[in-house]
Amino acid sequence: MFLKNMFFYLIIKLSATASAQDADFTYNGFAAAKLRLDGIAEITPNGLLRLTDTRLQDKGHAFHPPPVSFRNSTSGKALSFSTSFIFAIVPRYPDLFGHGLAFVLAHSVDLSYALPSQYMGLFNANNSNSSNQIVAIEFDTNMNPEFGDIDNNHVGIDVSSPRSVNSSHAAYFTNDNGAGFKNLSLVSGKPIQAWIEYSHMDGLLNVTLAPIDIPKPVVPCLSSNVNLSSLISDYMYVGFSSSVGTFKTSHYILGWSFKLNGRAQALDFSRLPSLPHTPSKSSIESWKIGLPIILAILLLLIIIIGTIFLVKRKIKFREVFEDWELEYGPQRFSYKDLFLATKGFTDQQLLGAGGFGSVYKGVLPKTDIQVAVKQVSHESRQGMREFIAEIVSIGRLSHRNLVRLLGYCRRKGELLLVYEFMPNGSLDKFLFNQPQFMLSWEQRFQIIKGVASALYYLHEGWEQVVVHRDIKASNILLDDQMNGRLGDFGLARLYDHGTDPQTTHVVGTLGYLAPELTKISKPTTSTDVFAFGGFLLEVACGRRPIEIRASEEDVVLVDKVLECWKAGTILEARDPNLGNEYILEEMEMVLKLGLLCSHPNCSFRPTMWLVVRILERDAPLPGMSEDFWSAEISAMGEGGFDNIGMSDSSLLTMSACSPSTMESLPLTSG
Ligand SMILES: *[C@@H]1O[C@H](CO)[C@@H](O)[C@H](O)[C@H]1NC(C)=O
Ligand SMILES: *[C@@H]1O[C@H](CO)[C@@H](O)[C@H](O)[C@H]1NC(C)=O
Ligand SMILES: *[C@@H]1O[C@H](CO)[C@@H](O)[C@H](O)[C@H]1NC(C)=O
Ligand SMILES: *[C@@H]1O[C@H](CO)[C@@H](O)[C@H](O)[C@H]1NC(C)=O
Ligand SMILES: *[C@@H]1O[C@H](CO)[C@@H](O)[C@H](O)[C@H]1NC(C)=O
Ligand SMILES: *[C@@H]1O[C@H](CO)[C@@H](O)[C@H](O)[C@H]1NC(C)=O
Ligand SMILES: *[C@@H]1O[C@H](CO)[C@@H](O)[C@H](O)[C@H]1NC(C)=O
Repeated sequence: MFLKNMFFYLIIKLSATASAQDADFTYNGFAAAKLRLDGIAEITPNGLLRLTDTRLQDKGHAFHPPPVSFRNSTSGKALSFSTSFIFAIVPRYPDLFGHGLAFVLAHSVDLSYALPSQYMGLFNANNSNSSNQIVAIEFDTNMNPEFGDIDNNHVGIDVSSPRSVNSSHAAYFTNDNGAGFKNLSLVSGKPIQAWIEYSHMDGLLNVTLAPIDIPKPVVPCLSSNVNLSSLISDYMYVGFSSSVGTFKTSHYILGWSFKLNGRAQALDFSRLPSLPHTPSKSSIESWKIGLPIILAILLLLIIIIGTIFLVKRKIKFREVFEDWELEYGPQRFSYKDLFLATKGFTDQQLLGAGGFGSVYKGVLPKTDIQVAVKQVSHESRQGMREFIAEIVSIGRLSHRNLVRLLGYCRRKGELLLVYEFMPNGSLDKFLFNQPQFMLSWEQRFQIIKGVASALYYLHEGWEQVVVHRDIKASNILLDDQMNGRLGDFGLARLYDHGTDPQTTHVVGTLGYLAPELTKISKPTTSTDVFAFGGFLLEVACGRRPIEIRASEEDVVLVDKVLECWKAGTILEARDPNLGNEYILEEMEMVLKLGLLCSHPNCSFRPTMWLVVRILERDAPLPGMSEDFWSAEISAMGEGGFDNIGMSDSSLLTMSACSPSTMESLPLTSG
C-alpha cells in the first residue's frame, strides 16, 4: 500500500517536474501554434492571434494548451516566471474603443460564465464568487469607476476580480534611474511589447511596457507585491483574454514567449506577422490637411456644374425677343411655361402633325388652362414682325366659331402658337374612313352654319379683311358642344412672308385650291369661298375632295356631285352612311351651295355674306343652268379663263372677284 502510494507520488512529482521543464515556449507568430481558442478568438492566415475582431459585446480567449505546474512541490511556494509578448489594440475609430486585453493565469479554461466589456471576458457581476482562480495582468483601455480604475489607459493586476489590486498608468521609462517618463497609448494601434516577471524570492510582480523599437526599460511600469503562492493552484493555464463592448476594437497578439523559473526568450521581430493595414496617424493628419482642399475642389465642381446646368437651362428655354414685341407683352408666353405645359413637347402630348407643324396638348402651369400648342418651324425672320402683328391682331378676333389664339412664343427657328384646346379634335376624324362616331345631319348642318358665320366674320365682320387660306375639314375643330370652330387662320401667311421668293409656293391644300391660284398666287376671300365649297361637299358627302377611287370620274368630288346634279339626282351624292336620316331640303341646299362655291370662275362664287343668308334661309339659293356649268368646267382647263372672256391681267387684282359682282351674276333658276 505504502509502495503503491509512493509510486504515485513519484509519478506526480516526475510529471510535475516534466511540466515545469516543458513550460518554456516561444511563438514568433501563431501560424503553427496549436492554441486553445474560444469565443471569437482566431488565428489569422498570416499568423496573428486575433482575440477580438469587429464584433461587439463579445470575448475571446487563447491559452497554451497544457497547464503549467506553478508550485515548487518541495517548498509549496509559487515558482518564478517570466513572459514577454507583443500586442496591438486597433480601434475602428481613433476616439471610440473597447476594453483591452489581459495576460491570464487561470485554474480553468472554462470561462463561459465570464462577461465581455469591462469584465474582460474573465469575470462576471458576482465577482468574488467564482470557483475559478484567476490572476490577470490587464491592459485596460477603459475607465470603470465601479472597479476603481485610475484612467482609461492603465496596467493593473486583477486577482479573481475586475477590481485591480494595484495598477499604474501605461508608460515607460527611457533611463535606468526612472527618469525619462513617457506616456504610452495602449490603443495607438501600434505594436507594444510587454514583459511580466514574477520572482518568488521577493514576491514582486513587475510589468514593463515599451514600443517595439525600444529595448526593454530597466524600470518597470508596475511593480507590485503579490503573494502568488496563496493565489494559484498547482496547475494553471497561461494565456490571454480580451473583450469588446460597444465600440469595434480588434485585439492582436503578434508573438509570445514564456518561461517558468527563468527569463523568457527574446522574440524574433523579423519573424512576427504584420498587422492588417490600418490608416496610420500620418494619413489621418494628411486627411486633416487634404480634406479642406478636397472640399474646396468639390465646392468648385458643384459651382461649375451648377453654372453649366443653369446656362444649359437658359439655352434650353431661350427665346427670341425683339423690341417691337414689347407691345404684345400680354400675348407673349414664356417658352418655359409652354415647355412645362406640354411636358417638354413629348410624344404623349402630341395631338397631331399638320402641314404647318406639330400640335401638342398642354396645361398652362399657373392657370391650369388647357391649351393646344402649335410648333411651327420657321427659319426666316423676314416678315416676322408683320406676321406677329397679324397674329396678335387675329388673337383679338372673337367669334364663337373661331378657335381662339391665346398668344405666341418665339424662339430661334420656331414659332409657338397657343390656342384654346378643343376636346373633340378635328372634324375630318368624324367624316372620313369609317369614323368611330358618325355625326348626324343635324350636327353637320350646325357645324356648316357655324363655320360659315366664322368665315363671314373674317371676311366682312371685322375692321380688316382676313383671308383664311386653308379651309378644310381637318382645320375645323369641334368644341365640347360639337360646335364647329375654324382654326389655323392666318398661318398660311407665314409662308408668304418667309419663303424664298424664287420658288412659287401656293399655300393651301390640293382639292381646296381655287383654280385661279395656279395663275396668281394671291389668295382672296373668293379663294376662301372656293375652299368653303369643298368643305360643304365634304360634310354632305362624307369624303375628301380628291380621293383615289376605282372609277376615274369619282376621283374629284365636285365632278361627281356635278354629274349627279346634271342627272337630276343630286341627292345620290350624299354621304351613304347617313341613310335616310337627313333633311332633304337642307341636304339639297348644301350640295348645291357647295357646287356654287366651287365654281371655277371666281366671279360666279357667292360671298360669305350671301352664303350665311342662304343657310339661314334669308335668301334663296340662286338657280344654276347646265350651260352655265358646262362652259365653266372647260374653263378649268388650260387657258380656260380666256374662254370666258376674261384677260389674265384682270385676274391679278382682287376687284375681278370682288364680292359686289355677285349680285349681278347671270344665274338662271334651276
Ligand atoms: C523548490 O524549493 C526548494 C526548497 O525551497 C529548492 O531547493 C528548489 O530549488 C526549488 N525548486 C525550484 C524548481 O525552484
Ligand atoms: C450571481 O449570483 C447570484 C446568486 O448566486 C445568481 O443568481 C446570479 O445569476 C449571478 N449573476 C451572474 C451574472 O452570474
Ligand atoms: C457563491 O455561489 C454559490 C453557488 O454557486 C453559493 O452557494 C454561494 O453562497 C455564493 N457565495 C457568495 C459569497 O455569493
Ligand atoms: C501622461 O498622462 C497623464 C495622464 O493622462 C498626464 O497627467 C501626464 O501629464 C502625461 N505625461 C506626459 C509626459 O505626457
Ligand atoms: C522588479 O522591479 C524591481 C524595481 O525595479 C526590481 O528591483 C526587481 O529586481 C524586479 N524584479 C524582477 C523579477 O525583475
Ligand atoms: C503598487 O504599484 C506601485 C507602482 O508600481 C508601487 O510603487 C507600489 O509599491 C505598489 N503597491 C503595492 C502594495 O505593492
Ligand atoms: C503568502 O501566502 C502563503 C499561503 O497562503 C502564506 O503561507 C504566506 O505567509 C504568505 N506570505 C506573505 C508574505 O504574506
